[in-house]
Amino acid sequence: MSELNVITLALPKGRIFEETLPLIRAASIEVLEDPNTSRKLILPTSRPDVQVVLVRATDVPTYVAQGGADLGVVGLDTLIEHSAESGGMDLYQPVDLKIAKCRLSVAVRADFDYAGVVKQGSRLRVATKYTHAAREFFAAKGVHVDLIKLYGSMELAPLTGLADAIVDLVSTGNTLKANQLVEVEHIMDISSRLVVNPASLKIKRVALQPILQAIRDAVACIYIRYRNHA
Ligand code: PRP
Repeated sequence: MSELNVITLALPKGRIFEETLPLIRAASIEVLEDPNTSRKLILPTSRPDVQVVLVRATDVPTYVAQGGADLGVVGLDTLIEHSAESGGMDLYQPVDLKIAKCRLSVAVRADFDYAGVVKQGSRLRVATKYTHAAREFFAAKGVHVDLIKLYGSMELAPLTGLADAIVDLVSTGNTLKANQLVEVEHIMDISSRLVVNPASLKIKRVALQPILQAIRDAVACIYIRYRNHA
C-alpha cells in the first residue's frame, strides 16, 4: 500500500497507549502486537491502511506536526510545552479524549512554608519538566521564580535542596506521599488530546474523517456511560 494511503498514528507506550486502545477499537482498529513484549516501533493493526508508531510522549507533537505521523495522542501537559515552543499553529487538536487524567500541581516538602515565601514576595526555586506552564502560572500570581529544567524524578529536587518546589503531574498522589511532599497548588486538570497533522487532514480527509468521527463518538459514549454510573 502506498504511503499516501496509510494512516499513521503516533502513540507513547504506557497509560496513554493502554487507554487509547478502546477508543480506536471504535474505528475497527486493533493493534496486533503488544509493545511490552515486541521490540518493533511500527506496529501493524487489524486495518491494512492503519499503522501505529511508538514514540516518546514528548515526541508525539513533533512527529504529527512534521508529518512523521498523521495522528497522535498526547497529554495536555506535553502539548502546552510544544505549543509554547512552536507557536501552536502546527497541529489540529480535534478531540479531548478524556483519558490519562491527572493534574498539574505545585508540591513542596511538608516542612516548607510555601504560603509564607509567596506572601513575602521572596524568590522561589522551582524544578520542573513543564517550564512554560510553570512560568505562566507563577507570573499570573506575581510570584518570582527561578525555574530549573529537569527531565524526570522531579520529586528529588526539594529533597536534595536543588529546589524549593516542583511543578509536576499528580495522579494518585502516591509518589508525593512516598517522598514526603505535599501538594500546595492545583495548576490545571490534564487529559490526553488527539492531535492531527493539518496537511493530512486535507490530503487524507476521506480516510481520516471516519476515524476521527468514530473516536469522537466513542469518547462521548464512554463519557455518558461514566456519568450515568457516577
Ligand atoms: C508521573 C509524575 C509523577 C507520578 C505521579 O511520572 O511525574 O512522578 O507520575 O503519579 P502518582 O500521583 O500516581 O504517584 P511518570 O511515572 O509518568 O514518569 P516520568 O517521571 O517519566 O514523567
